[in-house]
Amino acid sequence: MSAPQTILIVDDNRTNRTLLARSLSNSGYRTLEGSDGLQAIEMAVEHRPAIILLDVQMPSMDGFEACLRLKAMPKTAAIPVLFLTSHSEPANIERAFAVGGCDCIAKPFHMGEVKARIAVHLGLREATDMLEETHAQLLLAQKMESIGQLAAGVAHEINTPTQFVGDNTRFLKDTFEQLAPALGRVRELLETAIAGGDCEGEAKALKATFEDIELDYILEEFPTALDQSIEGLQRVSTIVKAMKEFSHSGASEMALADLNRSLETTINVASHEWKYVANVERDFDEGLPHVFCHAGEISQVLLNMIVNAAYALREKLGDGASEKGLIKLTTRHAGEFAEICVSDTGAGIPPEIRQRIFDPFFTTKAVGDGTGQGLSMAHKVVVQEHQGTISVESEVGVGTTFTIRLPLGREREAVS
Ligand SMILES: Nc1ncnc2c1ncn2[C@@H]1O[C@H](COP(=O)(O)OP(=O)(O)OP(=O)(O)O)[C@@H](O)[C@H]1O
Ligand SMILES: [Mg+2]
Repeated sequence: MSAPQTILIVDDNRTNRTLLARSLSNSGYRTLEGSDGLQAIEMAVEHRPAIILLDVQMPSMDGFEACLRLKAMPKTAAIPVLFLTSHSEPANIERAFAVGGCDCIAKPFHMGEVKARIAVHLGLREATDMLEETHAQLLLAQKMESIGQLAAGVAHEINTPTQFVGDNTRFLKDTFEQLAPALGRVRELLETAIAGGDCEGEAKALKATFEDIELDYILEEFPTALDQSIEGLQRVSTIVKAMKEFSHSGASEMALADLNRSLETTINVASHEWKYVANVERDFDEGLPHVFCHAGEISQVLLNMIVNAAYALREKLGDGASEKGLIKLTTRHAGEFAEICVSDTGAGIPPEIRQRIFDPFFTTKAVGDGTGQGLSMAHKVVVQEHQGTISVESEVGVGTTFTIRLPLGREREAVS
């Protein structure tokens, strides 16, 4: 049997409270009681009830004010608030909805009606929770899918430097094997010379050996091979680190995140997607404040946009084109927002489809190439989950710019 759902009853009139509590307990609910707006907030934060029955007129803080505050706090925002009021004139009812209430019942109330409305709102809440759960699962599935897709590119990215680091190391080993005996002979020659012995014959022989093993070539190539190998290992290390960061940035709670870093990580994990068609230009605002967000989900959005940009460039330039386009990534601190722009010089979006690109499953890609979920997911994550905005500007044949704006300072709401 599932645990009884908790209903918080807040009314300054004790008789009302007792009546409601008794009747709701008899119907199998667990009840909690408070007598003013402040208590409503404290108890909601502490007990997270399934629903709140809130009187409007109460001392110290009225129901409308309490509801506004409950809706402003992420911890309590989703709890349905059902008002009970003896002032049921239209303006008051309108206000009840305006402050975030889900329903309004006139006093004196009929218990049957109160229970019926509670059941409806609990059902709705359950459906919303399920929808959110499905959404979270969808996000995770999309993330896993893109990690899978990226894996092939990442493997290639790691394979290329691994191959030339291997070639270089073999070259260094072979050369060293030739050089080591000659160097041993140089040391003996030096000892003979210091002791005042005759070393002309051995010196000529050594000179011939150095010519044989092409010492000039070795001296020229040795530093290059070492530099290349160091750079190759650096590339492997960067991509492995980025992949690790990208796949692990999935904390379920929101936290302050450095979006410049998320963007850099995403550029690196997606390098195989864009490097043959685009140069990437970064214009990051180094003073960008950290943003309170789900960094993993935002990285996912950025990945979708970079992949889209690369696709649009491939579409315009054609496969195997010798010239490359440009993907420009910009971050800015714009007042109350952190702004990220993903710009490309790709094919552009025709005006007749611009209204539809954020629709779920809308795609212009060939069957099997895309599911059309990238931008609809981006919209959900940015607009619904982070209260941000996404806008797009595009000109066919010239390019496209997506601008994401995320509100700053939301961590303050989360702790208050
Ligand atoms: N940068 C861009 N340039 C041109 N068109 C774009 C760009 N970004 C998105 N679009 C258009 O919007 C459509 C929807 O994009 P969305 O990312 O939602 O899906 P998709 O890329 O087609 O598929 P998926 O992301 O599932 O692989 C694309 O098919 C394309 O027509
Ligand atoms: Mg896409």
